[in-house]
Amino acid sequence: MNTAMMNTAMMNRVHAAQPARAPVIDNWLETGWADRELRTDVSVGLSSSPKELPPKWFYDDRGSDLFDQITRLDEYYPTRSERQILEREARSIATASRANSLVELGSGTSTKTRILLDAFVAAGRLRRYVPFDDSEATLRSPGVRVHGVVGDFEHHLGCLPLDEQADAGPAQPRPPCMLMLLGGTIGNFAPTKRPAFLDAVAAAMRPGDTFLLGTDLVKDTGRLEAAYNDAAGVTAEFNLNVLSVVNRRLGADFDLDAFGHEAVFDVRNEWVEMRLRSTRAQTVHIPALEMTVEFAAGERVRTEISAKFRPERVRAELGAAGLAVQRMWTDAAGDYALTLARRVPSG
Ligand code: SAH
Ligand code: TRP
Repeated sequence: MNTAMMNTAMMNRVHAAQPARAPVIDNWLETGWADRELRTDVSVGLSSSPKELPPKWFYDDRGSDLFDQITRLDEYYPTRSERQILEREARSIATASRANSLVELGSGTSTKTRILLDAFVAAGRLRRYVPFDDSEATLRSPGVRVHGVVGDFEHHLGCLPLDEQADAGPAQPRPPCMLMLLGGTIGNFAPTKRPAFLDAVAAAMRPGDTFLLGTDLVKDTGRLEAAYNDAAGVTAEFNLNVLSVVNRRLGADFDLDAFGHEAVFDVRNEWVEMRLRSTRAQTVHIPALEMTVEFAAGERVRTEISAKFRPERVRAELGAAGLAVQRMWTDAAGDYALTLARRVPSG
C-alpha cells in the first residue's frame, strides 16, 4: 500500500446530516489521485505491446449500470449461480464465520449481499456492513449500520476501518469480521497480481477473521464465451465504455464505432480475455497525456481477463497467503464456487 494513502489529511470523511443510522463514507480516492492513476494506466497500457487498458476504469456511472444489466443477462450465469449458493448457504456461512461485521470488496450495488446480510441479521450477528468500492455512486444503505469506503482495493486495504467498532469502546477486542470478494472479481486480476492481493487481504485480517471468495469455475468454451459476448450486445457496450471514460477524462478522440468487442476463452491460461479490436488503421489523440496512439487494422487492446478456477487452485492460492479453506460450496450445476477461508495464526 502507498503510505501517503494512510495520511488522514487526504481523507474526506463525510458524516452526512445525521438521522440515526446515516451511513459514514470514507473516500480515499481524492480526485487528483484517481486522475494520476488513470493517466499512468492509460499511458503505460497504450504504449505496451500488445496494448492494454486496465479494467477498473470500466466502472463509471454508465459502466456500473451496464454491469448491472450484464448480471441479468441469460448468458451471464455467474451472478445467478452465486445467488443460488448464497440462498442455500447463507445461514451456514453466518454460523461458520462467526463474524459480526461484513466487509465487502468491490461491492457494487450489493444486490446479492442482501441475502447474506439478512441471514446474519436473523442469526443476531450483524453489527456492521462495510461496502468498499471505487465507485461512490454504487454505495447504498441496506438498513444496517453501514460504513462505506470509496477506495481502490489494490491500494487501500490497509485503510479499512476494521478496528473502529460500532458499539464497542476502544479497549474492547474487535469482534470477528468476514471479508468478502464476490462476483468472480478475483478472476479480473492478472494471475501475477493475485498473490500480492491475497497477501494484502490476509494482512488486513486478524486470526479468527474469515474471507469469503466467489470464483467462477472452468467449463466448456461455448458457455464461457457466450457469457462475455451476449446476443443483445450489452457486454460489447460495457467493454467499449472504457474508451468513453478515456475520451471524457483525458480528452481523447477514440471513435467507438471503429472498435469491436471480442471475448475469447484461452484454454491454456484458463481465462476469458476481453479485447477491443481496431476495425481499421487509425490514429487516436490523447491531449491530457500529449500522446498519439497508432492502431493497425485488426490490432487488439486487451481490456480484461476473467480467470476461471479449479477448486484445487483456489485452495492452493488461498493457502499460499496463509488462508486455510474451511468450507467450499458450489451451485447445483457445479458452475461456480464460494469458499470460506480462515486466517491461520501466524508465527
Ligand atoms: N460484487 C458485485 C460487483 C462485481 S463487479 C457482484 O458480485 O455483482 C466489480 C466491482 O468492483 C465493481 O463495482 C467495481 O466498481 C469494483 N472495482 C473494480 N476494480 C476495483 C478496484 N481496484 N478497487 C475497488 N473497487 C473496484
Ligand atoms: N467480474 C466479472 C467477471 O469477470 C466482470 C465482467 C463481467 C466483465 N462481464 C464482463 C468485465 C465483460 C469485462 C467485460 O465475470
